[in-house]
Amino acid sequence: MPERSCAPRRTSDTNALVTQSAAAPPAFDESELATVVASLSLEQKVRLLTGADFWSLHSEPAARLRRLVVSDGPAGVRGERWDERDPSANVPSPTALAATWDEELVEELGGLLASEARRKGVDVVLAPTVNLHRTPYAGRHFECFSEDPLLTARIGVSYVCGLQDGGVGATVKHFIANDSETERMTLDARVDERTLRELYLPPFEAIVREAAVWSVMASYNGVNGELMTESSLLRDILQRELGFDGVVMSDWFATRSTVASARAALDLAMPGPAGPWGDSLVAAVRAGDVDAATIDDKVLRILRLAARVGALEGTAPAPAPAYDDGEIASMLRRTAAAGFVLARSDRGLLPLDLGAVRRIAVIGPNAGAARTLGGGSATVFPPYTVSPLEGLRAALEPGVEILHSVGVRASSRVPVAGPPWMHLPGTGEPGVEVRFLDADGTVLASERRQGCAFTWLGSFDHEGAIARIDVGALLRATDSGTYTVGASGLGRYSMSVGGEIAFDEQLELRLGADIVEGIMVPPQATYEVELAAGEEIEILLAHDIGPRPGDQGPVSVNFQLNLAPPYGRDDHEIERAATIAGSSDVVVLVVGTTEEVESEGFDRASLSLPGRQDELVRCVAAANPNTIVVVNAGAPVLMPWEHDVAAVLIAWFAGQEFGNALADVLLGLTEPGGRLPTTWPAAEAGLPSTQPIDGVLRYDEGLLIGYRGDGLGERTTLFPFGHGLGFSSWEYESIDAPCHTPPGSALRVAVDVRNTGRRRGREVVQVYAARPDSAIARPIRWLVGFAAVVAEPGERATATIIVPPRAFEHWSVEHGLWVLEPGMFELAAGSSSAVLPMSTRITVA
Ligand code: BGC
Repeated sequence: MPERSCAPRRTSDTNALVTQSAAAPPAFDESELATVVASLSLEQKVRLLTGADFWSLHSEPAARLRRLVVSDGPAGVRGERWDERDPSANVPSPTALAATWDEELVEELGGLLASEARRKGVDVVLAPTVNLHRTPYAGRHFECFSEDPLLTARIGVSYVCGLQDGGVGATVKHFIANDSETERMTLDARVDERTLRELYLPPFEAIVREAAVWSVMASYNGVNGELMTESSLLRDILQRELGFDGVVMSDWFATRSTVASARAALDLAMPGPAGPWGDSLVAAVRAGDVDAATIDDKVLRILRLAARVGALEGTAPAPAPAYDDGEIASMLRRTAAAGFVLARSDRGLLPLDLGAVRRIAVIGPNAGAARTLGGGSATVFPPYTVSPLEGLRAALEPGVEILHSVGVRASSRVPVAGPPWMHLPGTGEPGVEVRFLDADGTVLASERRQGCAFTWLGSFDHEGAIARIDVGALLRATDSGTYTVGASGLGRYSMSVGGEIAFDEQLELRLGADIVEGIMVPPQATYEVELAAGEEIEILLAHDIGPRPGDQGPVSVNFQLNLAPPYGRDDHEIERAATIAGSSDVVVLVVGTTEEVESEGFDRASLSLPGRQDELVRCVAAANPNTIVVVNAGAPVLMPWEHDVAAVLIAWFAGQEFGNALADVLLGLTEPGGRLPTTWPAAEAGLPSTQPIDGVLRYDEGLLIGYRGDGLGERTTLFPFGHGLGFSSWEYESIDAPCHTPPGSALRVAVDVRNTGRRRGREVVQVYAARPDSAIARPIRWLVGFAAVVAEPGERATATIIVPPRAFEHWSVEHGLWVLEPGMFELAAGSSSAVLPMSTRITVA
């Protein structure tokens, strides 16, 4: 079989959701792989079909196959360790990447991820996530690109091409209709066929066909009555219809059966080594319940993946590009700024005129401690992060005075402990000591750690029957006041503070909660202690994990040592924030969501900013109208104060260079390049729910998610899909398209725009189609293409948009194929789904 690659995509000038994948020279000999498969025993074959551990596949000397490593995830490459000891470049979260509407940039970033993967010995990255923003309540919204299938597809194709061109596999996930978290392991998503075909499938389709992705992850949920790890869609759509020749792996612990999943086109059950396949699958094959040929096909696909990533002796992957730390930093800084969306900008405050600014107040819970990524399996541990406060200080001091205040506490949790408070007992150096003990209390091993969030998945890296883990630290007070110390996790925790028992508690997961909720926001036990500035006190946290018989499966232990320094009261902090705001020339107010709000494992209960942040914004804006609100969130939040402030900049989870990118944009060194990849609602009414009823989640809104349903029912829009102001202004001058086009051919649309602003700028020209007199139900409009242009002040530029034939077709359930309703379509061009100054009509027949 010919190997496919992304390279030809760049030469085909197209916006197509679907293009033919051109053949590249074969990288390995398929017939040799088949011979290897034939040479293996059934046991050897089946062993390859379940993971060897949490993050790897088995090696097989008889196949000259080495261990193959997989790792999350979209915002960086974590590697096999889940903690701060193996840091990863933290790239902006997927919503921010899609907000760039910049395929080249995302492809380049894919190359950076390939280089990170190679550095960490990772062969396959578990990304991108291309589920759609069906509703802003979705906990993993930040981890998906957009509410629009075309934008998702195009950004996703670029991400995968960048990664795989660097010799590292991508895994497009989660197939399919895994668009929310509540009951995600069991829920049955009921999605009508047309909606599935027109909305949820196209990103997977494009990534399989155009980017020739090497693996796909089957989701936890069911769709229309079939669990996705057992679903006929794997074979019927992925394999037969789309010609997918790679590996379908299960989401972690998503394989629930032996025969049904093995008969379906699921190739790899993750993680391992336990699982429902193994010996049971060997027996099922021997009993004739699963065909031997089915097993051979799965093994062939695994070997093919191994050949692609260079895990088979004699194969070598394409080389990944090389990046040094400075190059990584500048790439991430540039990418973050390219995704920032300037949603509102009044009174010409931005970019800041430094000549007129002597003092800036940098306020807000996310000002001094930025959130650079969302929670769950997308977590990586960056080598450093730059908060907005740090970024602005580095850019402005000493010429400009910077005042800071936290404003309010956004999280109700006691945060993970860390510097500058935690020190090693004995030496007093920064960090904590972790000791691993057996049931008799003998210390088997110890580690010095800087971070206080501990996660071991699969193994402890230490030998022996570990029954207890102790964390010892010296808490050194920086200020006088009440310190809250605590532990979070599941199971038994006891803590002593200064030799006194603080607590001894059994912590349990909330009934019905997903296990990932237990990892990201586990229950807490806390204790308060009064300390004077400079005072030190010993903390000892003991976590009993109990003896673990060998048959309990892989070790998974996860807990945190928590600490909150003295904090007054929100009332006082809001007052203080208003005072410093009032005495400053400009306020940069950074608000956002917390780990309790945006994470894998649960959905959002509300779209409001957590805590008293809305009140903070109002008080600060009342004290100083020159307030720029920076929103540090991966998903829409409500802004009841939108008209009270001078500017709103949506910064997403911007990765480790957040603060530097923010300074670049506020000071006008870089234009905020982003356009919304999703509608930001003005209120919650009418939005699709994430809550299954009796295990069933009905996608009753059908095709009308996001802007496709603008103006329908109770939904109201704050900022429309595609919106983003940049620092320039644009006039749309003309749209040019043929009046008639035959079915099945792509259409070229030319849109002339003129930069009417005073700065060089980039405009994302968007083209939407509508079919006012259609005989079938359709969205109000839908995106059919986009192109960015760059122009100097006064200059005119032409955006050329290629509209793929699919854009005019709809899925006929009756015929089971894409069909055209011949006739007149309206094409409208503009700067968002709501601002479309140019339009034309074309007949497709
Ligand atoms: C997530 C996947 C992830 C896997 C491995 C699951 O909980 O749904 O997206 O790749 O864990 O971390």
